[in-house]
Amino acid sequence: MTDRILIIGAYGQIGTELTLALKRKYGPANVIATDIRIPDHLSDEDDSCLYLDVLNRRALDLAVNKYQITQIYLLAAVLSVSGEQQPLKAWELNMQGLLNVLESARENFIARVFWPSSIAVFGHHAPKKPCPQHTVLQPSTAYGISKAAGEDWCQYYFHKFDVDVRSLRFPGLISSSALPGGGATDYAVDIFHHAVRNESYTCYLKASATLPMMYMADAVRAVLELMEAPAAQLTVHTAYNISGMSFTPTQLAASIKKRIPGFKINYKPDSRQSIAESWPTSIDDRFARKDWGWEPEYDLDSMTDQMLLNLRHSIPELQV
Ligand code: SER
Repeated sequence: MTDRILIIGAYGQIGTELTLALKRKYGPANVIATDIRIPDHLSDEDDSCLYLDVLNRRALDLAVNKYQITQIYLLAAVLSVSGEQQPLKAWELNMQGLLNVLESARENFIARVFWPSSIAVFGHHAPKKPCPQHTVLQPSTAYGISKAAGEDWCQYYFHKFDVDVRSLRFPGLISSSALPGGGATDYAVDIFHHAVRNESYTCYLKASATLPMMYMADAVRAVLELMEAPAAQLTVHTAYNISGMSFTPTQLAASIKKRIPGFKINYKPDSRQSIAESWPTSIDDRFARKDWGWEPEYDLDSMTDQMLLNLRHSIPELQV
């Protein structure tokens, strides 16, 4: 049977690139991209998108049945910084959205579900460097609380109802195609947008704030590889730790400066620093490596090269 994919949150930070990758893999006709915000301009490769609010369970079931969906990718979420402004909204979307998808998957015999978790599940009491797969989870943000509880629900639906739901604890994700929305790691994307325009950048984290990060191409590949892995090989049913790279704002700025010598960064830490301080600085991903062969491809310098190249090609005012 051909796989039929439903993506919820197709035009967010992860969805923008993952949707294209899934269309390439399964064929555009087999991928139903949905969001509550439809972009004005869609690329030729990406010319259809439906409105779907994951909080509307009936609309979700209608889409699942109408399009004979076999896999669901739930990417709609309120991230860490936005979640601190509206904690209950973060809980409602992140948690009720997941429960709606898990219930729909159970009732409609969906073969596989993907849902991203985050390093935000860890809190001050988890080891910082490297942070193990199995450790204490006492998240410091509403976003982290929703992801930690969501992981438990995923494991519960797997054991209790045989729902094959798979998840990754993403670090900060860095993409040239999509701007992040309201996360504590957003600086690592914003900085490139300033650098390619020859502007200096004021960073809201301390110069020494080390965080785990990943280039989006690696993140998308991780999702595809996890979703293809034989079920019998998977031993983690909450969410897998995965690691890409770890760096401070100073190290990222130095990597940019090697390519744009005039680039300048200054620091004005705000409340986002305390969120960053509650997260690990590096991640032990041995379970992902052993169970389904995870290996990151991009390091800090190769990611910087790719980001600068892509942004110079995609920002209209930089074309001469
Ligand atoms: N990048 C996310 C955030 O900062 C972490 O999952 O909220």
